Amino acid sequence: METKVFKINPDNIDGTAIVQLRECADIIKRGGLVCMPTETVYGLGANAYDPVAVSNIFKAKGRPSDNPLIVHICNYDMLELIVKDSFLQEGKMTALGDRFWPGPLTMIAPKTSIIPAVVSGGLDTVGVRYPCHPIASALIKLAGVPIAAPSANLSGKPSPTCFEHVKDDMMGRVDAIIDGGDCRVGVESTVLDITGSVPNILRPGAVTLADVKSVIEGSVEADWHLAHGIDASKVPKSPGLKYKHYAPDAPLYIFTATDCQIMVQGICEKIIEEKNKKLSVGVLATDENRDYYKDADMVQSVGSGTNSMEHAAALFTCLRRFDEAGVDVIIAEMLPQTGVGDAVMNRLYRAAAGRVIKLD
Ligand code: TXA
Ligand code: MG
Repeated sequence: METKVFKINPDNIDGTAIVQLRECADIIKRGGLVCMPTETVYGLGANAYDPVAVSNIFKAKGRPSDNPLIVHICNYDMLELIVKDSFLQEGKMTALGDRFWPGPLTMIAPKTSIIPAVVSGGLDTVGVRYPCHPIASALIKLAGVPIAAPSANLSGKPSPTCFEHVKDDMMGRVDAIIDGGDCRVGVESTVLDITGSVPNILRPGAVTLADVKSVIEGSVEADWHLAHGIDASKVPKSPGLKYKHYAPDAPLYIFTATDCQIMVQGICEKIIEEKNKKLSVGVLATDENRDYYKDADMVQSVGSGTNSMEHAAALFTCLRRFDEAGVDVIIAEMLPQTGVGDAVMNRLYRAAAGRVIKLD
């Protein structure tokens, strides 16, 4: 398949950009696939009302068909078409939407029949997101339909946060890719299930538990802890959580210690241990510590130690660089879990698939 590339500056949607976006919107309307930037990660989009187009998303990604897609909207009129009216009347969804939309929050709500089963993986709910990226919102507006879009990576790869990642994974598999530069947030949206009496965060993102609690009276659960294997007896509510995600090719170990010096020391010893086995080692570090790991073959920094927003923006690029370099082992520092840091560590835990070394 020939893939058209459109380069658009999100900070200056001028006449030329509108012409390009119209062409992309036409592709969506005709049932094609368009990769678009959002503020979190790039998405692989199709007309959410078109079951054939949506089934092609699963083919392009190599994604299991029981894993539901997020539907992206650009106004509340679209919301009313896809979410059950009786549910909207309860007011919870619009209260949260008024506070966090447009933005990196996905809410799970009962769907109307206009959303085909292939979008929701056969569930009677739909994940809805109202992105705040100018290119994503313009594309949805011009297409005139909600856009179903998972992250635009091949299944099992880290989500793409820049055009190069999308190109590497999707060139030849989709009709068009919009190059809108780097994604500001860098980790996927918070997924919040609001169908039950207690709202439940299924996937952490830039909208944090504290943020959600500031709007919701009463308790809020955070089921994503299950993905860390803390309670293996429970079945994750989000179908996506049962799949191994965000996994780099090499095994990834997380080193943690309450004392930073002990963590650094442990990582240095692990580097030597792996080098003695003739394996090449990559280290995921912070700016403050990166110089300690001179024995490693490759060191990638996620930025300054205390800045979780920098970590989120850098994480997936670092993981992809380790893959490109073909290191045999990756060792990661534990990062602070404040704000979006919770989401960063969630992705890192999943990439580690249980390889967590606790030193004290
Ligand atoms: O930031 C994002 O959310 C990006 C951008 C493109 O919007 N999209 C994204 O989509 O990360 P995806 O498909 O990679 O992840 C969607 C997650 C999956 O874990 C899926 O299982 C869950 O949301 N999900 C979607 N619909 C659901 C539903 N009805 N019930 C429970 N979980 C759902
Ligand atoms: Mg994904």
